[in-house]
Amino acid sequence: MSNPLFRLENLHKSYKREGRDDLEVLRGISLSVEEKSFLTIVGRSGSGKSTILQLMAAFDKPTQGHVFFRESNLTSKNDEALSLYRNKHIGFIFQFHHLLPEFSALENVMIPGLIRQTGKRNEIEKKAVDLLNLVGLAERSDHKPSQMSGGEQQRVAIARSLMNEPEVIFADEPTGNLDSANSELVYTLLEKIHRDLNTTLIVVTHNADLAGMGQIRLEIKDGMFC
Ligand SMILES: Nc1ncnc2c1ncn2[C@@H]1O[C@H](COP(=O)(O)OP(=O)(O)OP(=O)(O)O)[C@@H](O)[C@H]1O
Ligand SMILES: [Mg+2]
Repeated sequence: MSNPLFRLENLHKSYKREGRDDLEVLRGISLSVEEKSFLTIVGRSGSGKSTILQLMAAFDKPTQGHVFFRESNLTSKNDEALSLYRNKHIGFIFQFHHLLPEFSALENVMIPGLIRQTGKRNEIEKKAVDLLNLVGLAERSDHKPSQMSGGEQQRVAIARSLMNEPEVIFADEPTGNLDSANSELVYTLLEKIHRDLNTTLIVVTHNADLAGMGQIRLEIKDGMFC
């Protein structure tokens, strides 16, 4: 069997609190994620779902334990190596799209490509147009985020997450801010990305329909998967 894409080894995360014991959020999580899988993570509010994604995406470091990406230990990498990891290997979709307000849809999608600087600007632009097509928003490419609906903004964020052809996409409550019709558009897109692009998906959600779409559904409770 091939090596897993991710391996979490005895992951702990605590937060310091003034005058009180540390808040222990994760208490020893171990997990292997195979390439091309579709995982969903559910659990009540405050159970640590976003914390797990933040550690896997290397936005934050565990208090104890390790995150391995393709057997390379993220926990021991420096900031520069972690920036490269985030830009090259992963895409992240947030509950609130986090698009840059002063840029158009097209420019927002182009940004990860421009940061990575692997192609010419016109190639990056062409790819961004293709991605806006994929999410059904070619006609909104010159709109700024404030000139788009919430669902459209989230689809631009999905297109942006695909710019550098990541092996994995993390989505943290991607439909948390959307009505049911727009949520459905987002599920359909995520399913298509998984099926057609073979991208590994790791999705945190409160939405039962979306949680049911994953091949593996994990529930977190008391700092552990249950
Ligand atoms: N930077 C921080 N400092 C202190 N406590 C934090 C910090 N970030 C998160 N927490 C606490 O850690 C716990 C887990 O947070 P997390 O955001 O992972 O929960 P969640 O499962 O994603 O919840 P939700 O479903 O509401 O998004 C919460 O109780 C939260 O208050
Ligand atoms: Mg959360």
